[in-house]
Amino acid sequence: MQEACKLAAGNWKMNGLRADLIEARALARAFPAPDCGVLLCPPATLIASMAEALHGGPIMVGGQDCHAAASGAHTGDISARMLADAGARHVILGHSERRADHGESSETVAAKAQAAHGAGLVAIICVGETEAERDAGQTLEVVMGQLRESLPEGATAANSVIAYEPVWAIGTGRTPTLEQIAEVHDALRAAVPDAAMSLLYGGSVKPGNAAEIFAIANVNGALVGGASLKAEDFGAIIAALEAS
Ligand code: PGA
Repeated sequence: MQEACKLAAGNWKMNGLRADLIEARALARAFPAPDCGVLLCPPATLIASMAEALHGGPIMVGGQDCHAAASGAHTGDISARMLADAGARHVILGHSERRADHGESSETVAAKAQAAHGAGLVAIICVGETEAERDAGQTLEVVMGQLRESLPEGATAANSVIAYEPVWAIGTGRTPTLEQIAEVHDALRAAVPDAAMSLLYGGSVKPGNAAEIFAIANVNGALVGGASLKAEDFGAIIAALEAS
């Protein structure tokens, strides 16, 4: 059986100006040949310039969202093909901030993922429960439901990655216990259509907790927000993934 690829993915969210490309360059210098996939997803305004800055190296660039349509009258939106054209290889889809701020349903996420696949991008599909849902004992039901509805037909390990991100752990400094992460990742592993699909954990991953999270079976990497903005912090997380 093919093993899932390790991936450290940084999500810069709505942070970063051109001056911050210095962090991407520093990361490229520190990891000329990383032992795992390394991806930075800056805001759309920086995708092309970051791809250019990292050109020829192993660190990949991705988007944070795309529209489901290939082109058309959708002011302010970006298509998957435009991301690919700018140098992106991946796109984060269905992040809880998109689901909450923009009312994205799992059905929308699946349509976007289909568009991403059509443009040759790897879709990083995010799922995760709210604190109220966890407290109500609904975590697995919610996460598995999102997975079922967000993953499009034809999803394989080559074109899709799943990120489990408990909403209450994002940007809060709180993380689930290692057992809680393991429970969800075991369930995801059993449910994904391709046994080699990479499963990332996301939510307050830091240099200090990365190694213990990466030691969990069925955790193949991380989707990192705040700690991906500085090359030093993200580098420590990448090093922990390489060593896992
Ligand atoms: P965080 O964000 O690492 O800042 O908690 C993770 C994410 O939202 O992808």
